[in-house]
Amino acid sequence: MTLLIRNLSQIATATGRAARRGRAMRDISVLEDGVIVVQNGRFAYVGPESERPPELLIDEDFDAGGATAVPGFVDTHTHLPFAGTRESEFNRRLQGETYEDIAASGGGIASTVHATRRATEEQLTASVLVRAATMARYGTTTAEAKSGYGLDKECELKQLRAIRAVNERSPVRLVPTCLAAHEFPPESRGSEAARHGYLSTILAEILPAVAEEKLAVFCDAFVERGVFNAEQGEAVLRAGTELGMIPRLHADEFSDGGGARLASSVGAASADHLMHISEDGIAALAASDTVANLLPATSFFLMSDRYAPARALIDAGAIVSLSTDCNPGSSMTESMQMVMQLATLQMKMTVEEALTAATLNGAYSLRMAKEIGSIETGKRADFVLLDAPGYLHLVYHFGVNLVKAVFRDGQRVA
Ligand code: NIG
Ligand code: FE
Repeated sequence: MTLLIRNLSQIATATGRAARRGRAMRDISVLEDGVIVVQNGRFAYVGPESERPPELLIDEDFDAGGATAVPGFVDTHTHLPFAGTRESEFNRRLQGETYEDIAASGGGIASTVHATRRATEEQLTASVLVRAATMARYGTTTAEAKSGYGLDKECELKQLRAIRAVNERSPVRLVPTCLAAHEFPPESRGSEAARHGYLSTILAEILPAVAEEKLAVFCDAFVERGVFNAEQGEAVLRAGTELGMIPRLHADEFSDGGGARLASSVGAASADHLMHISEDGIAALAASDTVANLLPATSFFLMSDRYAPARALIDAGAIVSLSTDCNPGSSMTESMQMVMQLATLQMKMTVEEALTAATLNGAYSLRMAKEIGSIETGKRADFVLLDAPGYLHLVYHFGVNLVKAVFRDGQRVA
């Protein structure tokens, strides 16, 4: 099957098969009036119509109607498999309580843990599929998805199995992460010994079971005051690495806990959040291949004026990516368009940097930059057609869904 996409106003994409760091994040390729040819699920030609190779015999012709093509968005931090929603906590936050107050009073992650433990694997699968369909409608073609609302072996496995089940029929390609170290479960909060007991369970039982069933590519931990300290987080990431998983880390979200330095020292694929990253943390990421994954929708939704220092990170030479953090407590959105708008309007990234961060650099942090993340010959044909005359509209025309059509592996998925 060979598909020609014609009548495009613009094709805008980062380029390359590795991440772009620092200033190089701005250097995107912008082609006016080009065409795209897709063959066997991959880009076979991207360029002017006049130079299209004649040996590519076209079976199907798609009139893009003047759309702009950009790579499918890569959302590398989501908590997709959850049951229940937390709009009442959200409403409490609107009255002045903080996210951390609510968590300390037994709400927060714990309330989603209760609901997720009660849900069946089939129920979780169905809800992940609905969210994945929403993601696709907003232009995401690959997403990382974390467990972390089970906090016991059975329920962590249930969440990861749900991700696997969805992957067989999802419009979005899902990449699983085990986040058993998201919180201490309610039954282990009573004492230091009980907390230590849960940490031992993660190391000795949960991670090995996840590895045995090959349920996760990545492992993650929430290093934060009142949750896992840096030493505990490191133990989890090292154990995951031993079992063949690649670490990622929730780092420096509500306080500076040395998370960015820790992530780079264990060779993590990404250090995520970073609202409270220190100067030392910025230097550590700039000098490493650990991606600084920024989640501005979380600051926005928590009504914080503290955003991660995107400019300082980029100016120091770090690799920056962007993600939704989609979860029922701190960021209830599937929209990468919203995230790019916040990245530019609130964190002062340029639109070009935001596009690179939301595509190629995310692909790199998932270890998939050779296959996805840009519109280039040979890569998997994951792309979005925007109802816009050019990529700047991604931010300029904000608060609406610009997506007209979405293709993944050359198939139309939305
Ligand atoms: O990434 N920081 C920890 N975890 C999530 C929040 C999860 C929740 O509130 O349910 C986050 O923001
Ligand atoms: Fe998160």
